[in-house]
Amino acid sequence: MDYYIIRGGKKLSGEVTISGAKNAALPIIVASLLADGETVLKNVPDLMDIRTIIKVIEFLGAGTEFNKQDNILKIRVNKIKNNEVPYELVKTMRASVYVMGPLLARTGEADVSLPGGCAIGERPVDIHLSGFEALGASINLEHGYIKARVKKLGGNTFAMKKVSVGATVNLLMGAVLAKGKTILENCAMEPDVVDLGNFLIKMGADIKGLGTDRIEVEGVKKLVPATYDIMPDRIEAGTYLIAGAITRGAVMLKNTAPEHVQALMETLAQMGFTLDSGKDWVSIKTPKKLQGTIIKTLPYPGFPTDLQAPIMSLATTVPGISTVTETIFENRFTHVPELRRMGADITIEGNVAIIRGVKSLSSAPVMMSDLRAGAALVIAALQAKGTTEIRRIYHADRGYEKMTEKLIALGANIKRVPGGNP
Ligand code: UD1
Repeated sequence: MDYYIIRGGKKLSGEVTISGAKNAALPIIVASLLADGETVLKNVPDLMDIRTIIKVIEFLGAGTEFNKQDNILKIRVNKIKNNEVPYELVKTMRASVYVMGPLLARTGEADVSLPGGCAIGERPVDIHLSGFEALGASINLEHGYIKARVKKLGGNTFAMKKVSVGATVNLLMGAVLAKGKTILENCAMEPDVVDLGNFLIKMGADIKGLGTDRIEVEGVKKLVPATYDIMPDRIEAGTYLIAGAITRGAVMLKNTAPEHVQALMETLAQMGFTLDSGKDWVSIKTPKKLQGTIIKTLPYPGFPTDLQAPIMSLATTVPGISTVTETIFENRFTHVPELRRMGADITIEGNVAIIRGVKSLSSAPVMMSDLRAGAALVIAALQAKGTTEIRRIYHADRGYEKMTEKLIALGANIKRVPGGNP
């Protein structure tokens, strides 16, 4: 398996173009199943997770053509020929459960393997399931599979007990073709949900309230395929801002929506960094004086849990004390032991990490445990004294397009080495 060798200490500087958003592209690709004909998606990032979801929709009967150079994905749907998503596909990526919405809406049958646990906690799908029950489906769990059946989905009011991105997008995809009106309450307000909603509207769906916690959907009889541009990836954008910050560099992000990274920009400004932004760009510069800060992950528009690990890497090198509280997922501190091996001073108390800034991190062999924990290690290595070897970088491949090339273009000393021990 490939691994990274990073020699730390280079200040990052220059421009980087942010790719399309993985977490918007995933449900949008699945939503193409809602209409027969050809869907054309632009700005689709070439990532492992995207290749997996393409396999999923192909398994269900879609034909696809992915031009990875131009990031254009064409999807042709004539007939849904399968209603089952096997364990092999769901286990590599939880977002495979998104097919429940379109499958139930179009065929009335969905058999999806239960996702099970993952590196960042239990991650149940109970809200997805009770939502589909509210829309009239019967749900049974058999041999590790969710078996959902319905004659025709019907509109209803459903309040999610917890804000869930996955449940919101899944139920939205079911509700657009349901009979009558669906009101979803306590919805996720993430831009990824809004992007999916805008795509569905382009397909002919009747949706109101996107970006608020109450979404109203008037079911329509039929949807038509559409051509759509996926929005920029706010988590990738945040990762490069933090990479610029930890190396005390000056980085400008192109193809970025500043309003999507507001919470991060505020946190970085509290730490003392200088942020600037325009319509589709954000930049960061480093002044002399920095200080620790208080960070708490929350549903959007709060600080994103997906940037919790990366910001913690940065906090380990900022003078004074910072605290990072994780409120979305249990067990999302797997990067902490690895950062400690690189000289970070971090104490964990429940879901709070207390970080005392050190002058510099130092290189050590480390291992990625999941996608964002992996990004945190790359960020730490960019600052650390010496040469850091990072293993299991397939985790980063799930969510960062051309990471090596983009970092090299910013002046980082990073090499991807093929092969080696896992
Ligand atoms: C999505 C993102 C992920 C991000 C997360 C939170 C994708 C592909 N992934 O994941 O990158 O970290 O949002 O912003 O978009 N929960 C339940 N029952 C459910 C569903 C969720 O209890 O049925 C809980 C989860 O365990 C978690 C919280 O709700 O504690 C939020 O999870 P959710 O928003 O659903 O995350 P995902 O959609 O899986």
